[in-house]
Amino acid sequence: MSRIISIFNMKGGVGKSTTAYNLAAGLARFHQQHILLIDIDPQGNSAASLGIKIWDLELQLRDVLLRHSSLHEATISLSDHIDIVPSNIRLAEDEIPISGLPGRELLLRKAIASVLDDYDFILIDCPPNIGVFSINALMASNEVIIPVDMSYLGLLGISSIEKALDLIHSALEHPIEITGVLATRFDARNNLSKEVLQSLQHRFTAQMFSTVIPESVKLREAPSFSLSIFDHDSNGKGAKAYLSLVEEVIGCQ
Ligand SMILES: Nc1ncnc2c1ncn2[C@@H]1O[C@H](COP(=O)(O)OP(=O)(O)O)[C@@H](O)[C@H]1O
Ligand SMILES: [Mg+2]
Repeated sequence: MSRIISIFNMKGGVGKSTTAYNLAAGLARFHQQHILLIDIDPQGNSAASLGIKIWDLELQLRDVLLRHSSLHEATISLSDHIDIVPSNIRLAEDEIPISGLPGRELLLRKAIASVLDDYDFILIDCPPNIGVFSINALMASNEVIIPVDMSYLGLLGISSIEKALDLIHSALEHPIEITGVLATRFDARNNLSKEVLQSLQHRFTAQMFSTVIPESVKLREAPSFSLSIFDHDSNGKGAKAYLSLVEEVIGCQ
């Protein structure tokens, strides 16, 4: 049975896609885990970062959600261990028809039901909002990783994330375990980074990952080479931090 984890935060630019694709790469590389990475963000960043040509897709996640194709048909195999279901802007174009479908919150959960035995992890990269796509991701998941960047607004956004998860729990009767809150884009030269990190650790205590993802030029530039951080700069601080996250995620099975 797969562990199904959404990478979720309603704020953009916090490192959701960076975390989704590097976590996928690290779990595959260091633990030989079989991974399905589902990109449910019309920006298509996590699939594009691994070199998928998201502008000429024959099939993509939108076709699965609209029930025009099976998940299997829309899956692209990147390597022996990583499969990807990509998206591009056409997913956004179809948000209204998808929102009008019966059982619209459960489209993704139903689509992945047939592949749960094929993967150790299904990672879902969410868009930066709480519309029908994020709800589909959360309803399909049993865990969530919440990356939070080291900014005042990042900290401020935490309450709305907790409310969104509560809503999913109470209104849609689907409890989700927080695998961890992940501090991202930490810059040790910056006092705000340290203050935000302290506030997060104080608030989330055991739910915080010990790993802190640093702000790093290598992490920022890796997608332009279609490489994970482990291939782009294997000994750098970004790779060390994401490897540490991989170990924590494996450790909390
Ligand atoms: N730790 C980091 N250090 C430097 N740049 C980062 C880091 N994490 C993300 N970025 C960059 O910031 C931008 C937004 O990150 P992304 O992962 O796409 O965020 P999100 O998916 O939450 O919108 C991207 O250009 C990405 O390369
Ligand atoms: Mg993203």
